[in-house]
This record gives sequence, structure tokens and C-alpha cells, in this order.
Amino acid sequence: MEIKRSTFTGKIGFVLAAAGSAVGLGNIWRFPYLAAKYGGGIFLLVYIILAVTFGFSLMIAEIAIGRKTGQSPIGAFQKLDRRFTFVGVFASVVPALILPYYSVIGGWVMKYLFGFISGQGSEMAVINKTEVAGALTEISFFDKYIENVSEPIIWFSIYIIITSVVVLLGVQRGVEKVSKIMMPILVVLILFIAIYSIVTMDGAVEGVVYYLKPDFSKFSVMTVVAAMGQLFYSMSLAMGIMITFGSYMKKEVSIEKSVRQIELFDTGVAFLAGLMVVPAVFAFSGGDETALNKGAGLMFVTLPRVFDTMPYGSVIGAVFFLMVFLAALTSSISLMETVVSVLQDKLGMRRVPACIAVLVFSLLLGCVSALGYSAWNDIKIIGMTFLDFFDFLANNILMPVVAFATCIVVGYVIKPKAVTEEVELSGKFREKKLFAIMIRYIAPICIILILVSSILDVFGIVKI
Ligand code: PHE
Repeated sequence: MEIKRSTFTGKIGFVLAAAGSAVGLGNIWRFPYLAAKYGGGIFLLVYIILAVTFGFSLMIAEIAIGRKTGQSPIGAFQKLDRRFTFVGVFASVVPALILPYYSVIGGWVMKYLFGFISGQGSEMAVINKTEVAGALTEISFFDKYIENVSEPIIWFSIYIIITSVVVLLGVQRGVEKVSKIMMPILVVLILFIAIYSIVTMDGAVEGVVYYLKPDFSKFSVMTVVAAMGQLFYSMSLAMGIMITFGSYMKKEVSIEKSVRQIELFDTGVAFLAGLMVVPAVFAFSGGDETALNKGAGLMFVTLPRVFDTMPYGSVIGAVFFLMVFLAALTSSISLMETVVSVLQDKLGMRRVPACIAVLVFSLLLGCVSALGYSAWNDIKIIGMTFLDFFDFLANNILMPVVAFATCIVVGYVIKPKAVTEEVELSGKFREKKLFAIMIRYIAPICIILILVSSILDVFGIVKI
């Protein structure tokens, strides 16, 4: 039975909805800590090159596949070629894997939001120096906080329940309206915080240089691995989401232009978030390696310290975390919505039981991620905490596999022409040549190289 899919109202509707899904914790939390860790300017450069070539081509392909078939990922690949149905299945597993740990971080954001609201701002900026194994180590509020067993789980549960309620009640549209107001405020705030720390803090300028000036001696294959994983994550690629969005897109809306806008916006927010965090890290630590390598906690450790030095810092901190919370929420809603609609379409589940199933699954898996920092912090999977492991599995293994298969299907099975024709339904496709070369040759080869090297690296077979 063919059900007519509803469509977005015009071009702006599509771009906004896709941008709402794309802009989230990936831009504000994940990008800055990766940029700090992987050499600053060189990471930024590699990321931008990948975004305008590889990210561009893959997003075009996904949206065009969605619009052409009018189906969600599993149905779409099935329709293109039955043998490749598994790609759609794989793609659908990714959001199910991301949602739980994404919500754990959403829970951290809520903790900080309520911390600022209840006047605990300065407390969250405290860093204690403690001796660990003979060396003086800095222990932040954040480090201590995530060692709690119950509190992070409580905030995480509240976060995922809010997400489920929105999906269950089908009030996504309402949230999207909120996000239209939130996005500009978020961008202005990030810009303000960045300028503030650069202008007022000693040593921040060195951080700006570190962030903007590529240092080629810091380049390694891992820079590309990390940048590519981040690209998938941030642009919501290789997990079927853009296929689903494409299936709702009207034929007369230009795919190429929309992709450019989404990319520009997504990369712009990530760039500014890096500018907000990296120079501040430098100012506090003088560019110390361990501070730059802080990983997942970087934003949560650094920003409260910045707010602490600001007049009205607690108000600005509260507004900032509120905006981050909303940006995260629009993303986790689209993650959950995708999983729920797969269960509905493919297993014939009704909406309410499907939502509840995803909620229960996410609660379980999310608790594992949260406990990985507290009760189970001595358990490591291939040297990673649970949260890092799920993140690695989704971004560095599953997404490259899905992206590779997408390139093969488009490049060799249906041929780039099928996509090009779909794109040209709404006007000229300017980067047609780039697209075909990327999808057929460059992207698949790069993905394979990256996949293999990241696996070798994690298992310690080759250090790259
Ligand atoms: N792109 C989102 C972010 O940057 C994460 C996300 C991935 C959201 C996939 C929806 C789907 O935070």
C-alpha cells in the first residue's frame, strides 16, 4: 500500500528541519574537543576539505535517494536494489546506537543548566589539584560529577523521557518552531563567548593561532579518521536520516542549494563552537597537552570557568545551556523518530509500543554509558569507556560501512546518473562532475583506507 508522504512547505521548511537535526551536540560538544585533541588548525582544515567534497557528495546522494524512492532507508535501498536492503538495515541501527549515549550527554547539559539556574555556577568552575600516583592532577567539578552513580543517570533518564514524550505526542513541529528562535540566539551567544574569552583572557590568542593555523607536523591518519567520523555525525549522514528527510522533499526544491546551506550552517556553528572552547582552554592551561586531550568533558570543564570570569556569568551560562539543551533535543528527537518509524514500517509495530520499546532500550544502553564513568569505570572495551566505545562503533565503524555501501550502490549499481537526474529535476547540478568522481572513486577508496586504519589503530596493531 502506498501512503502519500507529507512534504515540507517549500525550501526553507526543508533546510530548517534538516539543519535542526544536523546542529546539535555534535557541533557544540564534539567538534571542539576533537579539534583540541587532533592538532587544532590541521583538524579544522581536513574537516573543511572533507565537508565540501565528501560530505557534500554523500548528502546529495542520500537526499536524492530519499526523494527518488519516497521511502525511509530500508525501503529505499530495497527499491534501488534488493541485494542492498542490508545497507538500509545497517543505517537504521546507527541512530539506535547513538540515541542512548547522546541522551547521557543531554543529561550532562541539563545538570549544568539547572546548576546555573540554581546559582551553583561558581561551584561548577572549581578545579581541585589532587595528587594521583605521585603527580599533581587537576580534578574538575565535571570529573567528580560523572563519578556519581545515580545523579547522571537521573538527568539522563529525564532527558530521554522528555525526548520520548515529544516523539510520542507528535509535537515535533512545536519543537521545531522553538528551534527557529533558539538557533539565532545560540549562534550569537557562541560568538559573544568566543570574542569575550579571546579579548579578555591572557593566552587565549595563542589558542586562536593553534585553532586556525594548520601545523602539518600534527597531521596523521587519525586526523582524517576523526574528521571523517565527525563529519558523518555532525551532518547526520550515513544513518538514513537524510534519506528520510529527502523522502519528504518536494521535487521543485533544489537539492544542491539546500545541501550547501545545511553544510554551511552546520560547519559554521561547529567552527564557532571551536573558537569558543579552544582559546579558552589555552588561556586556562597555557596550551598544556593534557588539557587539550581532555576529551568528552572539555566543554563542561572549560565553559563554566569562562562564565565564572564574566559579569552576569551565571545568567549567560544558564541561557547558553538552555540553548544547547534545545539544540540537542531537536537532534535526539530526530534520532528517536527515525528508530521509531523503522519499527513501525518494518516490524509493523504501532507507534506507542514502538516508542516505549525505543525508550526502554535507550534507558538500558544509556545507563551502561553513564555507569562507564562511575561504578564501572575500571571496565574498558578495547581501551575505551563505554560511551567512547559506542561513539567509536557508530561513527568510526558502522557509518563508514554504510557510507561505503552507499557509494557503491550509487556509483556502480544505479549509477551516478540516477542521482544526477533527480537533482536536475529542480535545476542545474553545478558540481555534477565532482559528485560522480567522489562517489565512484575518491570516497570509497578513502573510506576503506580509513576504516582499516582506524581498526588497526584501536587494536594496537599499527600506531598511526
Ligand atoms: N547531527 C547531530 C549533531 O550534530 C547528531 C545527530 C545525528 C542528530 C544523527 C540526528 C541524527 O549533534
